Amino acid sequence: RCRRVRPFIEAALPESGAEVLPSFEKIPGIPPPVGDHSHLAPPGPLLKVSPSSLQCESGYLVPNKNMGYGISGDGTLSPMQYLTNILGSKVYDLAYESPLQLASKLSGSWGVNVWLKREDLQPVFSFKLRGAYNMMAKLPKEQLERGVICSSAGNHAQGVALSAQRLGCHAVIVMPVTTPEIKWKSVERLGATVVLTGDSYDEAQAYAKNRAFEEGRTFIPPFDHPDIIAGQGTIGMEIVKQVKGGPVEAIFVPVGGGGLIAGIAVYVKRVCPEVKIIGVEPFDANAMTLSLHHDRRVALDNVGGFADGVAVKVVGEETFRLCRELVDGVVLVSRDAICASIKDMFEEKRSILEPAGALALAGAEAYCKYYGVKGKNIVAVTSGANMNFDRLRLVTELANVGRRREAVLATYMPEERGSFKRFCELVSLLRI
Ligand SMILES: Cc1ncc(COP(=O)(O)O)c(C=O)c1O
Repeated sequence: RCRRVRPFIEAALPESGAEVLPSFEKIPGIPPPVGDHSHLAPPGPLLKVSPSSLQCESGYLVPNKNMGYGISGDGTLSPMQYLTNILGSKVYDLAYESPLQLASKLSGSWGVNVWLKREDLQPVFSFKLRGAYNMMAKLPKEQLERGVICSSAGNHAQGVALSAQRLGCHAVIVMPVTTPEIKWKSVERLGATVVLTGDSYDEAQAYAKNRAFEEGRTFIPPFDHPDIIAGQGTIGMEIVKQVKGGPVEAIFVPVGGGGLIAGIAVYVKRVCPEVKIIGVEPFDANAMTLSLHHDRRVALDNVGGFADGVAVKVVGEETFRLCRELVDGVVLVSRDAICASIKDMFEEKRSILEPAGALALAGAEAYCKYYGVKGKNIVAVTSGANMNFDRLRLVTELANVGRRREAVLATYMPEERGSFKRFCELVSLLRI
């Protein structure tokens, strides 16, 4: 059953004063001249775009037209240096080699072998400790003694706190004042000092960077640093080693700032270039898709927060440089599809993933259905399980919408006599 629907894709820049690019199909697939990467870091502020400025069907691979044309020379490390960094990484002092498990029920129903890279089983329940530990373990002793600082209300905070505990250094974790108690308490339990400040992540980050400067602490960024990227890249190394039963068609990776996918891509594309590396983003948090599409980093004017782990307005500079060269494209999925995948994972393994953790599974399903993929091996990185318990109710409700077993319909009813009767009469004619 191969369903090839002509994708509807449109890209426009609604912000006043922003440049309007030609429509997506019309951008020729011609690479920029070798060595000319000036367009990657345009001077001045980043272009502001809205997530809805690019629309396509779920499952359609929004292609990366620059893939394979060479990494720009203005980044920090070459791909070979990344490979060396990944191979020599110290993450296993703290992280597990997570299992690559076959999802047998999903494999049966999709007609492909679905492999799950279980990063949700790590200590602190996400992959984020890999990058944080890799960066921190490399810091010179004197720098560690001065302590580290980061800003995060999510998995990065826990990764940094646990790494600091293991390395015996002091960590300050800065979180917005809106952070739920359960999150900051769990970081505090790991021995870190929590500072609640600012109404948004940006304000918390500004405070953290300032304090890092004043106290000589090392700022540990969530994704945009070669050591963070290399730490996450150890997942790619493990997948290549663990996979059984024939070649892998594609690895699906959730994308926030791009550290995870950049790390996996930089390893896998070097060792097995034929394996597709496919990013997955929510429709309303598609900063990487739009950045690849415009061939420059863009800033989203708003971002959907349902999959909070990937709610990022601007992807990293170094992560974009790598993704532009190495990632095949990105698939977009809806909130309902993410919820349906959380349910699938529960039925398959009795584990509950957080929304960002289930993103790759949702993208893999949408892609396989869209392109009618059958009989291949595909891998989805289940990246985290830090689910806010109160969210479960919403997830269970939306899961049935995502599976198209239930639908949510909205209507306007004039506020006048007989409206409700007329509404009931109209609805009774439908089979709902
Ligand atoms: C569970 C989970 N999945 C995916 C991501 C995305 O990772 P990155 O920002 O490196 O793209 C994050 C980021 O924090 C995360 O917490």
